[in-house]
Amino acid sequence: MSTILVTGATGLVGSEVVARLVKAGHDVLALVHRQQVLLRNNGTALRSGDVTLVPGDVTKPRLGLPSRIASTVDKVVHCAAITDFGRAREVYQSINVDGTANVAELAAGLGVPLVHVGTAYVCGERDGVALESDLDVGQRFANAYEESKLQAETLVHKARANGLAAAVVRPSIVVGAERTGVVRDFKNLYVVLKLTTEGKVRSIPGHYDANLDLVPVDYVADLIVEVAERFAEAEGKTFHAVGKALTLRDFSDVLAEYPSFTVPRFVPPSSFDAQRLPVGERMYYERVASLYESYFQRRVHFDTSTADAFRRRKAPVGGQVYLRRLLDHCLKVGYLGAPLPSFTEVLSTLDGDA
Ligand SMILES: NC(=O)c1ccc[n+]([C@@H]2O[C@H](COP(=O)([O-])OP(=O)(O)OC[C@H]3O[C@@H](n4cnc5c(N)ncnc54)[C@H](OP(=O)(O)O)[C@@H]3O)[C@@H](O)[C@H]2O)c1
Repeated sequence: MSTILVTGATGLVGSEVVARLVKAGHDVLALVHRQQVLLRNNGTALRSGDVTLVPGDVTKPRLGLPSRIASTVDKVVHCAAITDFGRAREVYQSINVDGTANVAELAAGLGVPLVHVGTAYVCGERDGVALESDLDVGQRFANAYEESKLQAETLVHKARANGLAAAVVRPSIVVGAERTGVVRDFKNLYVVLKLTTEGKVRSIPGHYDANLDLVPVDYVADLIVEVAERFAEAEGKTFHAVGKALTLRDFSDVLAEYPSFTVPRFVPPSSFDAQRLPVGERMYYERVASLYESYFQRRVHFDTSTADAFRRRKAPVGGQVYLRRLLDHCLKVGYLGAPLPSFTEVLSTLDGDA
């Protein structure tokens, strides 16, 4: 058992990573920044006796950790990042790039391994197969977040060349739990889903044969923990933590099964003109949907050969079955639409009328 420092410990992924490491018997130092409570994906709080919260900031040298704490660390799992889109470039630089440099320097200084959490979308806007071994292939980026994650991963590789033992896990789009669809934070793509299914954004530039890769948060956390625990086998490798991609056609077909949803139209990007949208829709499109539209245009497939050869955890179920679980959960908790009455509820109304 080791003492593992987890950055981004209060985040969607980080809190699940912490919970698993604690359960496996490790001493976990959870780096906390603004949020001071570790809420798991299912909303339950991690008990303070199970995990040690350490205040810190990745933008500071050695993350601002006192030496007496840093010196106890055997391994670092780096999940901290700014993950939402549309922030100023300097924010991604400071937290995602310089922050990763500080984390890598800390791990290198302590002589301990680093598990860096990147993103599969370091592939940028290219189509085709993205290999786990691919990094900078001259790709164009959809946003400053993705670009910052490429720079961060490049720094980790440079640190490896200078002796740091490191492995990288790259999730795609992290969403609800595999079996239940439960998700703690309705962020990023969920917001687009809300705007579209409520009819606030009715058309988005996209290709019906584009691939949307949604991956369950529990699968991502399981893989990160496997990499941390079996580090000797993982060292030097990069693992795609991705799901089973859906085409936008499959995605739209599932949305159409829900009578309370408006199904967005995906318009070929060359014929989409935001200026022709009604005023209200244009506002939602420009402020939110446009930040995510590139995910509806990429025909990328994430190769998982390295992850498949490594992981003991089964691959996530994915596909339309999983998308229905995600949507059903959103309906159940009232995030999306109004749930249709169940068969029993309809029958009980009829009984009442009689
Ligand atoms: N979510 C996704 O869809 C997705 C997809 C691909 C890859 N990833 C990657 O997976 C990792 C985890 O993502 P996530 O969704 O769990 O992120 P998240 O929920 O947005 O959490 C981000 C975490 O980073 C912490 N953080 C931010 N600034 C910090 C700073 N200056 N110093 C220390 N900690 C700081 C936050 O703490 P405070 O809130 O207290 O500041 C929070 O705990 C990230 O590296 C992300 O790039 C995520």
